[in-house]
Amino acid sequence: MDKKLRSQQWFGKKGKDGFIYRAWMKNQGIPADEFEGKPVIGICNTWSELTPCNAHFRELAESVRRGILEAGGFPVEFPVMSLGETLIKPTAMLYRNLVSMDVEESIRANPLDGVVLLCGCDKTTPALVMGACSVDIPTIVVSGGPMLTGKYQGKDIGTTDVWRFTNDLRAGLMSQDELNEAEAGLCRSRGHCAVMGTASSMACMVESLGLTLPGNAAIPAADSNRKVLAQLSGRRIVDMVKEDLKPSDILTKKAFENAIKVNAAIGGSTNFVIHLTAIAGRIGIPLELKEFDPISAPIPLLANLQPSGKFFMEDLYYAGGLPALLKELDTFLNKDCITVNGKTIRENYKNARCFNQDVITSLDKPFNTETALAVLQGNICENGAVIKPSAASPHLFKHTGKAVVFENIEDFKARIDDPDLPVDETSILVLKNVGPKGYPGMPEVGNMSLPVKLLEKGVKDMVRISDGRMSGTGFGTVVLHVSPEATHGGNFSVLETGDIITLDLEARSLNVDLSDAELNARKEKWIKPENLVERGYTGLYINNVEQAHLGADFNFLKGGSGSDVTRDSH
Ligand code: FES
Ligand code: MG
Repeated sequence: MDKKLRSQQWFGKKGKDGFIYRAWMKNQGIPADEFEGKPVIGICNTWSELTPCNAHFRELAESVRRGILEAGGFPVEFPVMSLGETLIKPTAMLYRNLVSMDVEESIRANPLDGVVLLCGCDKTTPALVMGACSVDIPTIVVSGGPMLTGKYQGKDIGTTDVWRFTNDLRAGLMSQDELNEAEAGLCRSRGHCAVMGTASSMACMVESLGLTLPGNAAIPAADSNRKVLAQLSGRRIVDMVKEDLKPSDILTKKAFENAIKVNAAIGGSTNFVIHLTAIAGRIGIPLELKEFDPISAPIPLLANLQPSGKFFMEDLYYAGGLPALLKELDTFLNKDCITVNGKTIRENYKNARCFNQDVITSLDKPFNTETALAVLQGNICENGAVIKPSAASPHLFKHTGKAVVFENIEDFKARIDDPDLPVDETSILVLKNVGPKGYPGMPEVGNMSLPVKLLEKGVKDMVRISDGRMSGTGFGTVVLHVSPEATHGGNFSVLETGDIITLDLEARSLNVDLSDAELNARKEKWIKPENLVERGYTGLYINNVEQAHLGADFNFLKGGSGSDVTRDSH
């Protein structure tokens, strides 16, 4: 080890300061020699019973701890705020930046030489990686793993069925008793959503960025190999400290390009765009929304996984996991990107094998030639919007229709099922004020449910446009992340019912048939809504969050502050 350990700035001190730093730690039964130059490794734990996807993390942390001890490190587990998608109101996304601050400050303020991030449910992964990047000490990610595939009446089910089943209930095609039965079969084991939703997309993102050991993304939470990976990650982080291998060494522009290509090939979540952009902002890599489209466009969809396809994360694991998919994608990837194990990404996947070509299809016979992500431009979205073509309906790829505009979520809920609502399957549903500042927190309501009178007619999809997000498990011809959002007074703010909108996916355009003069005249009359909240964290959020196309991070959190803290506490 050529560099003095960071933790020695605490534990290596003599006199009063060293006494204070060590003495209280000793109440945990730690022998004196532990403080004499062992790498101190933080296990950053998002365990919480309120985050069911991460509820097994105390056990996972034990496996990490074992690995750290085996490699001669000094493990210290610490909690940070946890974010569960299913319980947190108004949306877990509101707190992603808060958790990133918690993580950043916890790492920097404490005597840590390296850190293992335990990530699971959607927001915990980007939040922890963002925070760790802003400190930039050696970091490895361990994902919690997906649940086993759900079962209902002999069929495989996953989170994507939540949208199908609840629409079926509204259309009278499913009873409440049947829905209850499905509810009991959906979440059969520990772990996060079993489809290629945001949590799985994030697990693939960190693996393709090089922040995890190979194979991390797909091992089910319930599989004993998940614990093995955690233990091996614990061993590895100790060596990473000795090698001083930091996120900034791994997260190059080329690594970000790899992550974008992989997200396209797996049919990953649209939320990926926002989170990857925010991570890039923290580590200082320039990455603009418009770059995602040309990098994604040539990549066919290889993974036949819900919501774009049929299978589940468990199937991906049995088919060879992400390394098998990376190997298929070899010609597209930046092969020399270094990863946490010190090897290049290509060295990590070169011996991988695909065991099921229905799940991981080949480049010459891809599952779908539609890409997983397109970035739209036009006079509705001056700073862009996104759509997931692989989960949309081809008959709507080029579509012109009359807008049915809802000013906010309450307006939508009050009127969507009104029998007199002037709407048919050619209409375009527009939902405003579900953006970062407007909701606040940019919730996953963009895949708004269709009017019940159309569901009863058998309509399965319509063009929908909003400044919000959609669950990574969602599907449909859904335009998301319209920027600037409605509260900003851009063109989107002044759309009205009856306006003629055209989506043209091939041209990557989204326009309303109004002249600049008409739009400007409407904007002059537009009144900016008051901030919903000024006090506390939510007030801080509304006043500082950036727009979706910039990653919805706080303006003051961009970049990092390093790991140095020169002043002592007493
Ligand atoms: Fe946690 Fe889906 S609810 S990953
Ligand atoms: Mg989600």
